[in-house]
Amino acid sequence: MDVANATVFITGANRGLGLAFAREARRRGARKIYAGMRSTSGFEEAGVVPVRVDVTDKASIAAAVELAADTTLLVNNAGIAALIDGPLAQDVEAQSSRMFETNYYGVVRVTQAFERILLAKPHAAIINVLSDIVWLPRPYLTPYAASKAAAWSFTNQLRFQLREQRVQVLGLHVGFVDTDLTNGIDVPKASPEHVVHQTYDALAAGKSEVMADKGTAMLKGTLAADVPGYITPPPGL
Ligand SMILES: NC(=O)c1ccc[n+]([C@@H]2O[C@H](COP(=O)([O-])OP(=O)(O)OC[C@H]3O[C@@H](n4cnc5c(N)ncnc54)[C@H](OP(=O)(O)O)[C@@H]3O)[C@@H](O)[C@H]2O)c1
Repeated sequence: MDVANATVFITGANRGLGLAFAREARRRGARKIYAGMRSTSGFEEAGVVPVRVDVTDKASIAAAVELAADTTLLVNNAGIAALIDGPLAQDVEAQSSRMFETNYYGVVRVTQAFERILLAKPHAAIINVLSDIVWLPRPYLTPYAASKAAAWSFTNQLRFQLREQRVQVLGLHVGFVDTDLTNGIDVPKASPEHVVHQTYDALAAGKSEVMADKGTAMLKGTLAADVPGYITPPPGL
């Protein structure tokens, strides 16, 4: 699907990657852009319609869908992360529960709520914002990694299910991106603009997955190796 002429709904679009998705959609000539956010107060962006939505709150999702019933492209972007001491840390269960509520069930809820209106359109698509973390051992991100791996699995089931109904489902995998989420983590990061470019280009090319940076592409390339990257990450990752 080409973003030009699409009507786009993005969750978590008040800042970070979500805002970059909204701005690039506008640059590419999207028909309409709905920026989903928990609080719309003070948000102003030319050509972008703010819509209140919290992906953990079904009532707010239902209201957003009603308001944005002309949506043809849904971007499940909203997400949270937390650092913990490792897979056996005391807070692993509490943090996992928090991450799943937003990063997994949030995606499930929003997608369920948009299903009817997307299926009614001649062309529709869904972008799920995932991560390289589904294949990368980073013990301090265990709850986040588990929630994104679950969202990746959901994305694969969803894509297969919706294939017959001509809804394109694109999974976006990327490593560190320069947003508030990675503040204070001193590593090389991709720019949100670069990631969004790659993603919309992949969508237009009819792809099912996009690896939006070199590291993630390299990591995915190891999956069939004897020692894949999720056992021993390739050098540099
Ligand atoms: N940054 C990275 O390195 C990286 C790498 C791979 C994947 N990702 C993924 O990219 C996506 C965007 O993250 P980001 O880097 O742009 O982070 P960010 O700058 O922290 O932005 C996160 C966005 O999600 C929103 N959000 C959080 N919980 C929400 C909820 N319950 N309902 C609605 N919106 C909610 C936030 O809203 P508030 O302003 O209200 O908090 C904010 O708009 C996430 O799914 C993240 O996992 C990020």
